[in-house]
Amino acid sequence: MSPIARFGVSLDKELLLKFDKLIKAKSYTNRSEAFRGLIRQELVKKEWKDADEVIGAATLIYDHHKRELVNKLLDIQHKFGSCIISSQHIHMDHDNCLEILALKGSPEKVQHLSDSLKAVKGVKHSTLSMSTTGQGIV
Ligand code: NI
Repeated sequence: MSPIARFGVSLDKELLLKFDKLIKAKSYTNRSEAFRGLIRQELVKKEWKDADEVIGAATLIYDHHKRELVNKLLDIQHKFGSCIISSQHIHMDHDNCLEILALKGSPEKVQHLSDSLKAVKGVKHSTLSMSTTGQGIV
């Protein structure tokens, strides 16, 4: 573990008040932990842009009665099969399904897969959580 470095931060008071509210809302224990979280988040974003391989999770919510939509989602998933590690299907209620896909691959391919799924007409909600193995991030 590398040694701890301390530094001062100058902020507009109003901005600091907003930051403190954000810290509370996000359940950080203190400002230092919040800064660490934000810095790591930015490093992960950069890693996503620069890395050869990234990991992530995609979620999808859709109505399974729309058969054409379901077929399109399946076609896309088979096309990008090499970067889908696993998928989980949850029957949320009578109409709606939730799918969670664990992804691994080049940032471009994973992003392309997520964009392709999101673009299918009838998908009610879709997210992509960009993550990392954490190697290289303290
Ligand atoms: Ni279902």
